[in-house]
Amino acid sequence: MTTSEPVQETLALNFSQPSKPRVLLAASGSVAAIKFESLCRSFSEWAEVRAVATKASLHFTDRKSLPSDIILYTDDDEWSTWKKIGDEVLHIELRKWADIMVIAPLSANTLAKIAGGLCDNLLTCIVRAWDYSKPLFVAPAMNTFMWNNPFTNRHLETINQLAATSHLADAATILFKFKLSWSVYLSKCRNKLTMTWDRQDYKAKMVTTKHEDKTKFR
Ligand SMILES: Cc1cc2nc3c(=O)[nH]c(=O)nc-3n(C[C@H](O)[C@H](O)[C@H](O)COP(=O)(O)O)c2cc1C
Repeated sequence: MTTSEPVQETLALNFSQPSKPRVLLAASGSVAAIKFESLCRSFSEWAEVRAVATKASLHFTDRKSLPSDIILYTDDDEWSTWKKIGDEVLHIELRKWADIMVIAPLSANTLAKIAGGLCDNLLTCIVRAWDYSKPLFVAPAMNTFMWNNPFTNRHLETINQLAATSHLADAATILFKFKLSWSVYLSKCRNKLTMTWDRQDYKAKMVTTKHEDKTKFR
């Protein structure tokens, strides 16, 4: 073999793109939700994204600005899609669909509700029904006075204790870690080390940021 080109060509021909990870991105009512659109765009470059927004978050996010291929679900959809017994329940379907859930930003209010097990809207119902063998990432964002309130730590500790797959990080770190994990996986596929995407394996590769990193979203 005189050059490396034919080898590269063979690999390219044999390489079939695996299905993208399914990421459920959720926004709650922090002012940092003004960045939700750009977060959605960043994730959708390499993941299949569905979005969930609380009523309060829609004060900061213009739903018309989201990429057209991203479906945004709100509390209204939860009720309009259910008419009778036997119909699919949206929060259960989204929980089943997602490989990963990312709540960015996570407001103090939604944090408190999750920590207390409350579920009075679409976002908190999904979390209340969440399968903790799948990763749940949260990026809290709030005013420093709220952040320093003793409730914050108490609630974050509770979320941390829910499962080894609950992680606190800033949104940029979450994005970076998932992108890195995905590109490692793709390169493994190209090198024929892994031919099918094992979602468990993907999760296992995650390097997680734990509670000590109290970085804010904004
Ligand atoms: C202008 C404005 C900015 C706010 N910014 C924040 C914030 O950054 N973080 C936060 O936790 N709450 C913030 N809040 C309060 C939340 O919007 C409020 O607690 C709301 O009920 C949250 O609802 P949700 O958790 O269902 O989205 C803000 C409220 C207003 C009016």
